Amino acid sequence: MFDHLFNPLMVGKVTLPNRICFLAHRTNFARGGRLDDRHVAYYRRRAQGGCGLIVVGDLSIHPNDRPWEAMIVAYDPGAVQDYQRLSGAVHEFESSIFAQLLTGSRVEKKGEMLRGSPESQVEGIISFLDRHGFLESKKEGEKE
Ligand SMILES: Cc1cc2nc3c(=O)[nH]c(=O)nc-3n(C[C@H](O)[C@H](O)[C@H](O)COP(=O)(O)O)c2cc1C
Repeated sequence: MFDHLFNPLMVGKVTLPNRICFLAHRTNFARGGRLDDRHVAYYRRRAQGGCGLIVVGDLSIHPNDRPWEAMIVAYDPGAVQDYQRLSGAVHEFESSIFAQLLTGSRVEKKGEMLRGSPESQVEGIISFLDRHGFLESKKEGEKE
């Protein structure tokens, strides 16, 4: 029954050491939108316990789309050092860590908050992520 649970798994370019995943969830630990010592200790302990993949959730991709105080900032270059610290702690145990970017579709477009159909909101979000280098672009000749 658990034949594959402890076997590695490739997800895109990442090889997970096993198939145990700690799902994304809001911890409410963040103050001022920054990851702190509690986050590091919390996720480090999960890595130490053997999680192959940790998904950090509740990350805001835009200052106008951060509806609660404890939501973690993912748009500020100043926060990169926090993410490096967190991923460093988790990598000590060979766990992988992914970030779940969250949006309530309120990303700013041309100075206005996005409104309109869900399709146009998604288009705006993809364009925002693309402009900020979050999306991998397809190389010439590569399949979709
Ligand atoms: C407090 C709390 C916060 C959560 N935050 C997120 C989140 O930010 N993103 C997400 O995709 N799921 C979130 N979830 C859903 C969990 O990732 C998970 O899917 C859910 O708890 C069901 O998993 P389980 O069957 O193992 O309990 C959250 C769940 C809880 C209880």
